[in-house]
Amino acid sequence: MKNIYPNIYQNSPRNLNKAKNFLKKNKIIGVPTETVYGLAGNAYSYKAVKEIYNIKKRPKKNPLIIHYENIEKVKKDAVINKDFLKLYKKFCPGPLTFILKKRKNSKICPAASAKLNTIAVRFPGHKIAKKLLKKLNFPLAMPSANISSSLSPISALDVADEFGKKVGLIIDGGKSNIGLESTVINLVKNIEVARPGAITKKDIIKVLGKKIHTIKNYKKIYSPGMLKKHYSPGIPVILNCKIISNKDAFIVFGKKYKKGHNIFNLSYKGDLNQAARNLYSTMRKIKKLNFKKIRVVKIPNKNIGIAINDRLKRASR
Ligand code: TXA
Ligand code: MG
Repeated sequence: MKNIYPNIYQNSPRNLNKAKNFLKKNKIIGVPTETVYGLAGNAYSYKAVKEIYNIKKRPKKNPLIIHYENIEKVKKDAVINKDFLKLYKKFCPGPLTFILKKRKNSKICPAASAKLNTIAVRFPGHKIAKKLLKKLNFPLAMPSANISSSLSPISALDVADEFGKKVGLIIDGGKSNIGLESTVINLVKNIEVARPGAITKKDIIKVLGKKIHTIKNYKKIYSPGMLKKHYSPGIPVILNCKIISNKDAFIVFGKKYKKGHNIFNLSYKGDLNQAARNLYSTMRKIKKLNFKKIRVVKIPNKNIGIAINDRLKRASR
């Protein structure tokens, strides 16, 4: 079969070297992670960072997450503290992003963190992202690989669909296992969850042994996950619907729902992790099928269901 996306590359040592060479030349590439696919560039390079903002059409004041291989490398750019160490030990590499104080002598391009004196850092757990970071002598600025405010990609094909040839190389790492963006935790002053994800507030409290907050004052810290409209499929999304009809697309959860041409079950067996994995691909599919509206039933608001509901709420605005 002819490859209609010649910019999608399979995982191989040769292709990872190619990816490394792109990044060394300050070009940007698509990289799989366990949460969603990222649009990666050299975090030390203004050229690469600027390109990320341009291609994503991302507002300049919206900072990027910087991805590292390990704790040793992060120490050069961020001030770490005890809470960070506890959470790192328990969850990293994995789907958790930390907001920390940025070091004055950090080489991170100031534009990458929107000129803030803080920096968001993450240690991805996906084997390809890990291998790639190991090859590099710089960290990767890597937002989700989608146009600003639309749905995050969970496959190489999604990234290619979003950007076409504008991204010269996308590594195919299969479907992202989690399917929702990382949890963002702010450790700078008050400890706050800035974006819910697979690692929940409860999980974090268990490790830190103290109370933490969920950010409500969105003006204080600018976070893309906090933009009013975000994670949007581009058609209206209506939440908490109770009656299923044969008009519009319905996103449902659990086995009490019948099958139908307009019924899309996130998890027939009622598994919230599976539902998270299927959420964005289901919304993309519905959009492609030309439905004009998405109606969603109530999804249990526990564990990763909290993050699912957060994304659905923002998609519905
Ligand atoms: O799972 C993920 O985190 C994915 C993969 C690719 O790693 N990346 C991702 O990046 O979702 P992005 O750019 O789509 O979301 C970045 C989040 C936003 O909510 C942003 O506000 C927050 O991180 N952020 C970044 N730097 C920050 C900072 N200095 N202060 C506060 N929030 C920050
Ligand atoms: Mg994003």
